[in-house]
Amino acid sequence: MIIEPVIQGVIARSAHPYGCRQAVREQIEYVRSAPPIQAGPKRVLILGASSGFGLASRIALTFGGAEADTVGVSFERGPSEKGVGSAGWYNNIFFRQEAEQAGRVATNIIGDAFSPEVRDQVIKAIRTDLGGQVDLVVYSLATGVRPDPTTGELWRSVIKTVGEPLTGQTVNLETGQLDTVTVDAATPAEIEATVKVMGGDDWAAWIDTLLQAGVLAPGCRTVAYSYIGPAITYPIYHQGTLGRAKVHLHATAADINRRLNAIGGGADVAVCKALVTKASVFIPALGPYILALFKVMKESGTHEGCIEQMQRLFQSRLYGQQHIGRDEQGLIRMDDWEMAEDVQLAVTELIAMITPENFQSVSDYAGYREDFLKLNGFGLQDVDYHQEIDFQELKVLEP
Ligand code: NAI
Ligand code: NA
Repeated sequence: MIIEPVIQGVIARSAHPYGCRQAVREQIEYVRSAPPIQAGPKRVLILGASSGFGLASRIALTFGGAEADTVGVSFERGPSEKGVGSAGWYNNIFFRQEAEQAGRVATNIIGDAFSPEVRDQVIKAIRTDLGGQVDLVVYSLATGVRPDPTTGELWRSVIKTVGEPLTGQTVNLETGQLDTVTVDAATPAEIEATVKVMGGDDWAAWIDTLLQAGVLAPGCRTVAYSYIGPAITYPIYHQGTLGRAKVHLHATAADINRRLNAIGGGADVAVCKALVTKASVFIPALGPYILALFKVMKESGTHEGCIEQMQRLFQSRLYGQQHIGRDEQGLIRMDDWEMAEDVQLAVTELIAMITPENFQSVSDYAGYREDFLKLNGFGLQDVDYHQEIDFQELKVLEP
């Protein structure tokens, strides 16, 4: 079988297992050559470990100087009659193989992070595989649904505005066009549901569960990821439903921080750069901003991907520092280079020039598309995409 990219709108319907392996290896190579994380955590739990910022965190912490053993939780699909399986499925497998070769522990737990069963599995894995406690919990889940822990009913997040509807443009990766979309204003119930799914509730519940189980080591830290962005994107992000959820996440960090202070640890939110991930391509009307941002940051030499962001977070902010640099709201700003005045000025100018006719040539559409394909294992160097893949060979790979 030959696996080709299949894209539907902004969703990849196929993934290339050995391309995913190569993408993991490239990230490992990057952190091995980057300034090393000093005095880093040795035992880490990563919720949302299979892609995006969570996977990059795991790679940075294992191979970027800290030499951490990890337990990673994710929701992914293996090979079946429906297809080869998801990119994250293979990222987990090949990350574990690489980690084990380097003498590290890497346990993958595949399941719903909101369920009590997965919480139990994680506690067991921390006890059996990590010696009983962790020094860091990375919270990097991105999802559209969460069951209400008391009723089991599903909350569904929406990506909408709060107040007025908004018309903007979205990158359609299937057609290679910039589609005009209208984003509706959310109802109060939709805003509440989005806060339930993407706010801080579940993060706090996880930390409580882990504290009660006694699996958080003295000094244990936790970090979750957020986005704010510039004023031009406020209507769709910061002041929209997702922004509401992030404001809740930021407030929750203060609560969790107090609880972890009791064991000498603490909680942080790292505000990250806008990047192409499985989750972020879903955000409508953010297209022109990201396309312009990539173009400008690449030209200024400050562009980063998930792996560069996470290595810099752990190396220059969270560990080995006298003081963790936080802003007046207590947030760690990994979006500092994105938000630089000259970058934002140039981005605003470029956005004004972007049209559905010219966007492929004036913005970084090529880079955006390349990143998206890479997330799914396509377009990597040193992968032979003409080589037949044996489905049986994939089926025997264990997470
Ligand atoms: P992603 O889609 O690449 O990763 C999400 C992870 O969550 C995957 O490992 C997935 O398997 C896991 N997951 C989802 N539902 C699950 C469930 N029910 N049970 C277990 N695992 C589950 O997303 P990304 O972009 O890395 O997002 C992570 C965090 O980073 C989010 O909080 C997001 O808001 C934040 N962030 C993202 C930015 C971006 O530009 N992509 C920018 C700044 C922050
Ligand atoms: Na993630």
